[in-house]
Amino acid sequence: MIRRRDFLWEVPAGFLAATALPPWLAMAAEEASVVIPGKAGMIVRSARFLDLEMPPEFFDSWITPEPHFFVRNHMAEPSTLDGQSWRLTVGGEVEKPLTLSLSELAQFKVHSVTNTLECAGNGRGFYQPHVPGVQWQKGAVGTARFSGPRLADILERAGVKPSGKHVMLRGLDEVPGKVPPFIRSLPIEKAMDGDTLVATHMNDSRLEKHHGFPARALVPGWIGAASCKWLSEIKVLDQEFDGNFMKPGYRLPNHSLEPGAPLNVDDSHVITALNVKSVIASPADGAILGARAFDVQGAAWAGEAEIASVEISIDGGGHWQPARLHRDQAKYAWRLWTCRLAVASAGEYTIWARATDSRGRVQPPAAEWNPSGYLYNAIDQVKIRVQA
Ligand code: MTE
Repeated sequence: MIRRRDFLWEVPAGFLAATALPPWLAMAAEEASVVIPGKAGMIVRSARFLDLEMPPEFFDSWITPEPHFFVRNHMAEPSTLDGQSWRLTVGGEVEKPLTLSLSELAQFKVHSVTNTLECAGNGRGFYQPHVPGVQWQKGAVGTARFSGPRLADILERAGVKPSGKHVMLRGLDEVPGKVPPFIRSLPIEKAMDGDTLVATHMNDSRLEKHHGFPARALVPGWIGAASCKWLSEIKVLDQEFDGNFMKPGYRLPNHSLEPGAPLNVDDSHVITALNVKSVIASPADGAILGARAFDVQGAAWAGEAEIASVEISIDGGGHWQPARLHRDQAKYAWRLWTCRLAVASAGEYTIWARATDSRGRVQPPAAEWNPSGYLYNAIDQVKIRVQA
């Protein structure tokens, strides 16, 4: 089968990363397939500001290799960043403001966290009614081992004042026109958590530019937006930051909304931890299988909670069969799973996958609709045909 991704449209190295494409080319790039250097095989959701999705077949690895790790950029990546002149400032409600170079950052004790990073908008493309924004399907998610100093150690060196309640993080994105800069904040408790990092490494290699070189926040178990890339400033605040990417961005309504209804910002909250969710990696949607017994495989994750079980159904939820969870696990990382299925007769089937976590949360038949299409986690479904 020839997939659309197999049509290669070569783009000079570095071009897409640093340059905003003219709108016609950006649109064409979204429709066709572009090969981004170092990111072959990824689905290009946007080439103007790079948004790359991992196709389902790459869910086969517990640690996602960097070339298969999704990219989510709201704006252009910094074009002039170099590790020599880069500085990280730490200020606000602190006793001793700091300015750290990359080599000073490297002198802090290194801590590693294997974390599943998922974009809050992953699965947006499945919401009905349609929600505007990047039409992610399954793969705005990946698992990597992030390493670097603990944010808590940096904040302790600066000495947080009792008035410090939130920690603001600023990225060095190149901001087009009047677009507000990428700045968000997290509560001091999560900032001081021993697993929250200023990561300089991913899978034991220096961070690549697409993923935030030279340093990014890593806020484990939380939506990807919390993990600010190209970090340049840490500022301790006495209240939550309320810029665009905190308000109205990345918020959910406090109460269920009728599908299609707008968000009332005054009756909403900032999204923090991820939902319970599983996705089917194989068989692929539309696959034609020759045998009546086959393996269903996928991944399941639950943010700050653990995956307790994954179950599979091929009769619309009438009967559920437990999947086997693979051995690799870490506190904030997904579990890969496999389920051997046998069908009685040839025909068409819809495979359902449903995860349950250690807090008793169960993946629902339909995700809670919201105007920005965040936290999609409906039971995943794949249609297959089994031949005689
Ligand atoms: N940080 C900056 N500075 N700018 C961004 O656009 N995108 C955020 C987050 N950090 C973003 C950012 C979002 S929405 C996500 S999902 C993750 O980065 C994606 O990280 P990745 O591109 O390394 O996969």
